[in-house]
Amino acid sequence: MRVLFVASELFPYVKVGGLGDVMAALPRALRAQGADVRLLVPAYPALRAAVEVQGVAAAFPDLMGGGAARILKAEAPGLPLYLLDQPTFFDRPGNPYAFTDDLACRFAALAWAAAHLGRAGDAEGWRPQVLHGHDWPTGLMPAYVVYGEGPRPATVMTIHNIAFPGRFPAAQLKDLQLPSGAFTPEGVEFHGDIGFLKAGLYLADRLSTVSPTYAREIQHADGYGLEGLLSHRRDSFRGILNGVDRTVWNPARDPHLVSHYDLRHPARRGPNRPVFQRRMGLEEDPAAPLFTAVSRLDPLKGLDLVLDNVDHIVARGGQLALIGSGELPAEAAFRQAARRHPGRVAVHIGYDEALAHQAFAAADVILVPSRQEPCGLTQLYAQVYGALPLVRRTGGLADTVVGVTPATLADGSATGFQFNVASGWALGEAINTALDLFADPLAWRQVQRRGMATDFGWEGPAKAYLALYATIPPKEL
Ligand code: ADP
Ligand code: GLC
Repeated sequence: MRVLFVASELFPYVKVGGLGDVMAALPRALRAQGADVRLLVPAYPALRAAVEVQGVAAAFPDLMGGGAARILKAEAPGLPLYLLDQPTFFDRPGNPYAFTDDLACRFAALAWAAAHLGRAGDAEGWRPQVLHGHDWPTGLMPAYVVYGEGPRPATVMTIHNIAFPGRFPAAQLKDLQLPSGAFTPEGVEFHGDIGFLKAGLYLADRLSTVSPTYAREIQHADGYGLEGLLSHRRDSFRGILNGVDRTVWNPARDPHLVSHYDLRHPARRGPNRPVFQRRMGLEEDPAAPLFTAVSRLDPLKGLDLVLDNVDHIVARGGQLALIGSGELPAEAAFRQAARRHPGRVAVHIGYDEALAHQAFAAADVILVPSRQEPCGLTQLYAQVYGALPLVRRTGGLADTVVGVTPATLADGSATGFQFNVASGWALGEAINTALDLFADPLAWRQVQRRGMATDFGWEGPAKAYLALYATIPPKEL
């Protein structure tokens, strides 16, 4: 089966969050299952500099008012790529989603280029049977397929985060080269605006999101106005969990760690801890329970609940490290907490891939108190690296962590800690449960081993995506 993934991020070249990780791993996992999967991404400067361009797949005098554009054929290790090379739109450093007046047109160009490859194929005659878009930047792709002419490839949309709707004023319809007939509730219209994600979810043949629990949540309450549409389409909609890319996240081989370890040699984890404490400016206290968060500082990530617990953690002899970037007020609040508790609380503001790896290998507990979490990857990386995740029971966090209770300790299924209510108090109670377990090293190690032994590989999820493609009637393929 020939599948074209279409996305706005790709680790290690351009990564804002987990989407970049998933785009690097899932297409390769599908290829390992025999599917001919390729990926279309904008030709960001970091990508252009890093990958080998092999030729031109298509060229256009103009796309969405951004001037001349080409689709370049390229190759990342083990993954054939198409790069949308349109310098006016994509030759910019920094966050790809930074708001500019041409934001809608930039990603519409990407979606249109995908639909073009689906209809016409590349210069060598490769034509995908399925176009698989991810999140709002690719939401118009099914619209360009439906409203365009020629053969119609099948379309699939995956929601990585429904909180970002890709909503733009109706006046941009012409700029986006959509017919006026597309501006209806059965098309791209969303509460009087153009909704990129809405369009994709209405018009694609199949839909998915990144965990079963989030799939249920966004059909009923947390769908940002898309609940009704998703529950209407529930027969075409699946929740498929993300996995862990063991070529990137493996403590037995991770180049960012000073000491490599695995399930059979857990003691070798130890030397990573003082190195991380030193890098962060924490006291090299070998006994302190070390709580850590690696996160975008977005209100949905619930880090305000961690701020509520800073004094509590320190008073109970713990340490707290935060590696994060994003919202300025949250950054300032964490910096202030670090000033109040020098050596016990430390903050690294900014994106640092190596430090994140070192954090998972050093921390006792990884905090993920999200208000909403479609899947979440850091609670998975924590388990693979022998840190115990402490999560709020929501979305993918509910599906991937078994909370410590007397029953789960007794039957050996516990892998971390969970709390329900999004309040500082409820997080504090879960922190107390973690501290109680920390005082019992044998029980702690049992939970740690269970997490490290869990299979979070991409093989199962890849099979589930292939099964989803297989539900599209053959005449459409
Ligand atoms: P989201 O995609 O919502 O941000 P995920 O948990 O799916 O959440 O993915 C977050 C990814 O970004 C993980 O790979 C995590 O390690 C990484 N990450 C988040 N913040 C930072 C940071 N400040 N430095 C390095 N990596 C980070
Ligand atoms: C989004 C979600 C996150 C998920 C990631 C990859 O960024 O916020 O929960 O893990 O996409 O699917």
